[in-house]
Amino acid sequence: MHSRSFVSAADLSRSEAEQLLESALALKRQPRGSRPLERRVLAMLFEKPSLRTRVSFETGMVQLGGHAIYLAPDDVRAGTRESLPDVARNLSRLADGIMARTFAHATVQTLADHAEVPVINGLSDREHPCQALADFLTLHEHRDLARRPTLAYVGDGTNVCHSLMLLSRVLDVPLRVACPAGYEPAPEFQTSCPAVLVTPDPVQAVAGADAVYTDVWASMGQEDQAEARRRIFRPYQVNAALMAGAAKDAIFLHCLPAHRGEEVTDEVLDGPQSAAYDQAENRLHAQKALLVMLIA
Ligand code: CP
Ligand code: NVA
Repeated sequence: MHSRSFVSAADLSRSEAEQLLESALALKRQPRGSRPLERRVLAMLFEKPSLRTRVSFETGMVQLGGHAIYLAPDDVRAGTRESLPDVARNLSRLADGIMARTFAHATVQTLADHAEVPVINGLSDREHPCQALADFLTLHEHRDLARRPTLAYVGDGTNVCHSLMLLSRVLDVPLRVACPAGYEPAPEFQTSCPAVLVTPDPVQAVAGADAVYTDVWASMGQEDQAEARRRIFRPYQVNAALMAGAAKDAIFLHCLPAHRGEEVTDEVLDGPQSAAYDQAENRLHAQKALLVMLIA
């Protein structure tokens, strides 16, 4: 690896993460203020669908004065048409940065290992670190991280959950996670984040929490398990009754897309406590700060 990449939420130190959030807030106040990435190009490699990740990176590059190239799954066929290291080497000669959304985490890691430009993880099966940046930015705006608000995550121990755990460790924000047996965060994340409470009890996780977060029950690539998961995860739905156990006026968070009526009810997602669309917007501001840090 010849340049700084962002493959895991653990790749940032506390001061870098704090600085990044402050710089994101400044960029949010003046979205078209300066063009530090004039003529810079970001190559965006997607193995899976996306709405927010694609649009926020593309909009972000344009607002910063640069350009983003969308490479659809069938365009590149990384690992089939040519090797992953060769994809990384070629893109390093043609672009100033690479953003990759992959199935296997090893794919984005291999790209980072062989690229000479920064590689950003836009979601893998293990992590979604850009999402976690936007999530903590949203929590910071609503609850001020200096006051150490408690975050509760309820549902599947996904990529999103893993990155939240790592960034909660980096930023020293208390996190409780409730998952059904067999769907907990991977053991290595539990080991590396010993302060995170992992419980099967959603009521315990949410009790008095300042923010309640959930993600879909079947992630991209798990569609064939959706029916079985609907039964297993039923008690983990974030609805008005579960939210009632959190702090008064606790915010509701969701990375989106939401499967309404499954992991969250319309009442909660569309209700006054929902900050889910702030999170979606904050993808833009957080990633602009990241792009400036890595590529400018
Ligand atoms: N939250 C998120 O990453 O959304 P997309 O899958 O639409 O990019
Ligand atoms: N866990 C979900 C997140 C989508 C943004 C998935 O991987 O599909």
